[in-house]
Amino acid sequence: MVQKYFAKISGTGRYLPKKVLTNHDLERMVDTNDEWIRTRTGMQERRVAAEGETTSDLAAKAGQQAIEAAGLRAKDIEMVIVCTVTGDHAFPSTSCLVQKKLGIKNTATAFDVSAGCTGFIYGANIAQQFIENGTKKHILVIGAETLTRILNWNDRGTCVLFGDGAGAAVFSRAENIDIAKVIDSEVSADGNFGELLIQPAGGSKMPASQETVQQNLHTVHMEGNKIFKLAVKSMYHLCDVVLKRNKMDVESIDWLIPHQANLRIIQALGKKLKIQNKKVIVNIEKYANTSAATVPIALDEAIKLKNIRRGDVVLMTAFGAGLTSGALLFRY
Ligand code: UT7
Repeated sequence: MVQKYFAKISGTGRYLPKKVLTNHDLERMVDTNDEWIRTRTGMQERRVAAEGETTSDLAAKAGQQAIEAAGLRAKDIEMVIVCTVTGDHAFPSTSCLVQKKLGIKNTATAFDVSAGCTGFIYGANIAQQFIENGTKKHILVIGAETLTRILNWNDRGTCVLFGDGAGAAVFSRAENIDIAKVIDSEVSADGNFGELLIQPAGGSKMPASQETVQQNLHTVHMEGNKIFKLAVKSMYHLCDVVLKRNKMDVESIDWLIPHQANLRIIQALGKKLKIQNKKVIVNIEKYANTSAATVPIALDEAIKLKNIRRGDVVLMTAFGAGLTSGALLFRY
């Protein structure tokens, strides 16, 4: 069957809270040091949402920019997908809050995607399907997190790694004259590794109680070094699947945007893919791991810095809680 419609990225945006938390600030909060954090992770600073600033606030700011960059108005958006593990509430979904904040029409579809740090790639994959099957023309996909709200500030193994932020992209139906298009994407999950990265309490298994609060069970629990190996393997695998399926090799890629969880993971992936370092987009030193937001923040930043230009071929990849992983290949 000949594919009738294609999706493209028509606009991007990002929002980072103003407050900066440096490694040196963390030295005063927990038993850690700048040298350990820099050499083990590549991180130097991260952003922290202001008091009262929520995930939907961050998401709406990034989303607004993406809509404007696409040359659209809120009324043009037919679907809002917010990818997050730190929504404003358990329900309603953060996407509905963003829909309201941006004045997106009340008939639009809005839902959240929970795929950890792979969230944005899952959201993009869903948007791609709706555009390719002809049912939607403009879909806003946002990765947004306020992870600092769910960290155990006494656990140096996790609290130094995460930050807050949001990145967004509008996926639109490509016109015939467009060179920009989503080429392919693939997402996957392996629930066998779910316990490695988890916020144990607050759901139906462990509702909030005094004990869950006392035992810090509403915070991020992670087995970092087990995830490390799986991260490189799963991202490499999905990049390989997507490239091979399109008879492309790594030489045809202008930019790789990997999830920003650890510089050593990014370097190991780059080495395995045999991609030149200068093609790998890294901003982990500034924002640390913002989960579902790292990839769209890096995308928007690279576009605004004019590193990514019209016609460039970009491969994005991520992995995260679930464990989930994904890759998205597109021409910008
Ligand atoms: O976005 C998806 C989710 N996250 C990830 O993908 C994270 C993946 N994993 C990682 O990035 C790395 O495993 C970490 C950065 C989390 C940890 O690095 P590592 O090289 O795997 O260190 P480790 O956990 O094996 O710990 C090594 C040592 C330990 O001390 P001992 O037992 O050797 O004495 C830790 O207690 O480093 C210690 N350590 C720290 N020291 C100073 C752990 N955290 C810290 C810290 N400051 N913040």
